[in-house]
Amino acid sequence: MAMSCVPEHNETLSIVEKGWKPFELSQYQGFWLPLKYFSETMACREHFESSKDDVILITTPKSGTTWLKALSFTVLNRTRHDLNNHPLLTRNPHELVPWLDLDLYVDGKIPDLTNLPSPRLFFMHLPYELLPTSIIESNCRIIYLCRNPKDTFVSLWLFLNKYLSEDEAPVPVEEAFELFHRGISLYGPFWEHLLGYWKASLERPERVLFIKYEELKEDPAFHLRRLADFLGCPFSDEEEREGLVEKIERFCSFESLKSLEVNKIGSTRLGGENKNFFRRGVVGDWENHLTEEMIEKLDKLTQQKLEGFGLTFKDAKK
Ligand code: A3P
Repeated sequence: MAMSCVPEHNETLSIVEKGWKPFELSQYQGFWLPLKYFSETMACREHFESSKDDVILITTPKSGTTWLKALSFTVLNRTRHDLNNHPLLTRNPHELVPWLDLDLYVDGKIPDLTNLPSPRLFFMHLPYELLPTSIIESNCRIIYLCRNPKDTFVSLWLFLNKYLSEDEAPVPVEEAFELFHRGISLYGPFWEHLLGYWKASLERPERVLFIKYEELKEDPAFHLRRLADFLGCPFSDEEEREGLVEKIERFCSFESLKSLEVNKIGSTRLGGENKNFFRRGVVGDWENHLTEEMIEKLDKLTQQKLEGFGLTFKDAKK
């Protein structure tokens, strides 16, 4: 958990936190970014030219990004791709929806994104306050997905431990919890990340759609319709009659995606094994991993942070 001074050429970074293995995090304007990808993020913030038709998916890590990518890609491209012969059957969702800064601005190089078919579909983890200004100015659509903090933390902790090499000991839950609770986590503090998008969704609901994992889990069909309406391509009467909404729900379900061969083998460009993006996919698994003390501490902090903003989670508490 040692903190060190940052390289002096990088005046924008204030401190580096080594404790959240395997990524060193650097604090930038109040948020914790992975130091390894700092040049990608900064190049994207400076050079990305957004268009009004863009759709940007944004999540806090481990809140169901893989699922949101599958759902959004399928809804947006449903006239182009039949479910029986669909790209998701042979490609992992992360391959189909690129990570705007980390996948496209590799080593800080500026890509040509002008020829991508419209609407361009991208994904990011950046907090609202750090988005490239062109994303705000273009008035493009943002879809934000988040999840209750206890499940998000457990999923993140277990996922990051999978990134460690064989000779590295897994990070104990107590150590990871301490950092998360202090706000030190990938793209954290977690609560400030939520609030940035929550407020934006209240101010500009036609441009920022706010979704909670727990509600998506409870009624995927409702949210698929909401997603399609938001994207300006509502399901037609004919699509409704043929049950397309329910078909997409089943097609993108945890069980269905997890069972595909492509999601059992291979890795994403950044090195995450495809299979590790499908663990349990339920609400409330935190009960199997957190102590009573941790639960109490996290609940209390969440209440303090979100109280007054009208943002709450159904997290399957006993
Ligand atoms: P758990 O670790 O709790 O199982 P991300 O995609 O942002 O990395 O989030 C991963 C989490 O979403 C994991 O949670 C994973 O199991 C869950 N997940 C992945 N695909 C899903 C799907 N189709 N439906 C519901 N949950 C899904």
